[in-house]
Amino acid sequence: MATSLLRPQDLLRPSADSTVRGTYFIQTWGCQMNEEDSEQMGLYLEQLGFRPSSGLEEAHVVLLNTCSVRKKPEDKAFSLLGELVPLKRRRPEMVIGVCGCMAQIRADEIKQRAPHVDFVVGTAQISEIPGLVEEAFQKRKFAKRLALPERKGAVVTDIPQRKVDRQTKLKAFVPIQYGCDKFCTYCIVPATRGRERSRATQDILAEVQMLVERGTREVTLLGQTVNSYGKNLAEGRVPFSQLLWRLSEIEGLRRIRYTSPYPRDFKSDLIETIRDCPAVMEHVHLPLQSGNNEMLQAMKRVYTQESFREIVHQLRAAVPGIGLTTDIIVGFPGESEEQFEETLAFVEEIEFDGAYMFIYSPRPGTPAADLPQLPYPVKQARLSRLAAAQDEISCRHNSEQAGKILEVLVEGRSPKDRTMAKGYSRDFRMVHFLAPDDLEDRTGRLAAVRAERGFRWGVQGQFLDWLE
Ligand code: 5AD
Ligand code: SF4
Repeated sequence: MATSLLRPQDLLRPSADSTVRGTYFIQTWGCQMNEEDSEQMGLYLEQLGFRPSSGLEEAHVVLLNTCSVRKKPEDKAFSLLGELVPLKRRRPEMVIGVCGCMAQIRADEIKQRAPHVDFVVGTAQISEIPGLVEEAFQKRKFAKRLALPERKGAVVTDIPQRKVDRQTKLKAFVPIQYGCDKFCTYCIVPATRGRERSRATQDILAEVQMLVERGTREVTLLGQTVNSYGKNLAEGRVPFSQLLWRLSEIEGLRRIRYTSPYPRDFKSDLIETIRDCPAVMEHVHLPLQSGNNEMLQAMKRVYTQESFREIVHQLRAAVPGIGLTTDIIVGFPGESEEQFEETLAFVEEIEFDGAYMFIYSPRPGTPAADLPQLPYPVKQARLSRLAAAQDEISCRHNSEQAGKILEVLVEGRSPKDRTMAKGYSRDFRMVHFLAPDDLEDRTGRLAAVRAERGFRWGVQGQFLDWLE
């Protein structure tokens, strides 16, 4: 069988040889999946004997882990590549690699615009990085690795080693599914990450078990359409809700989150699991994208305003007080003022607790990029209106928490104000409170905090007691 159950001997470890060969710097843009990949890249480099550098200037190996979901992160990556030109001139031995989504789809352009890049490696081949770095030190010949695995109707075997042998992490991201089969007309992800592939359940369970043994208390399961997890597995179909239940049996794992589910696949078994499974948090990030049915259809999102509303009603009926957040795109090609206003009205009706709102960014190669585009100022004005409406709702919802006792997973001091402690509630509100004296001894534990005031960013409260 092609499963790849993690065993301790498979773990990625820093090189046993204590000689340090040099330093590395990884610049990451984009989603949590990229953050996660970057962490793994770092481990590969540590295995080769490299250690993190304090800055770009002195690093021996520089990796750019790129994002293509909108134009801006692509521009930033090209701009950083420009900044690397004088550094590479000064220190020709520096190795520069470009990884991630932009590497996957723009390898030739990168080579042409940035000839000082040593290698380009796509999203499914990051395990090639150690070999590419070694090669670059030796022969200085441009290399690229861009294969995307076919799904082949079986388990994913292209995840050779997963990181786990790291310092304690209170909250960890765990990819459970790669790629996407939805092909929304605005989205580049199916091109950059390939077809949907689920990781074997045993691998996920083993990884989370190890993370928990190393001190992790919260995991966030990652996938582009995370709730369609579990198709085409050698062990047979494993519904996402079942994976959640199995993970919840891991002793010491306090919290399970996941992002992002796809509305059409949000079924009653998942709603029941959120209601009944204590480790599964009462928060759902459910991307809406648009509140207008014609726009949804043009985006090839296969649900409607009505069916989305129905899921929200079911969720709120089953789990009162559940936190709901979303993603919305404004200014999709052809979006009329009325259609935008329907989205605005829907957002005001649903009252999400928070939303990531984006101006539509044409992605070359996607169907929507070929349609006539709206003027940028129109898109910008729509974003401002929507954001103002959502800010008011977020702020009001957070203020309505006042008086409630929240269960907070305490992460430590707030970086902005060291007298304050910071954590998240079960329904995913950021909570700040005056740090208790024993904060340092208790960081990573659950605390009861009485909410006092709400802001756009979250809730300020008063520490009551440690819950464990
Ligand atoms: N333009 C703007 N936003 C986009 N997203 C995806 N593709 C685009 C695009 N071309 C947004 C969607 C998605 C989130 C991760 O990014 O809202 O849910
Ligand atoms: Fe992109 Fe749509 Fe897949 Fe999400 S579901 S990754 S928006 S194609």
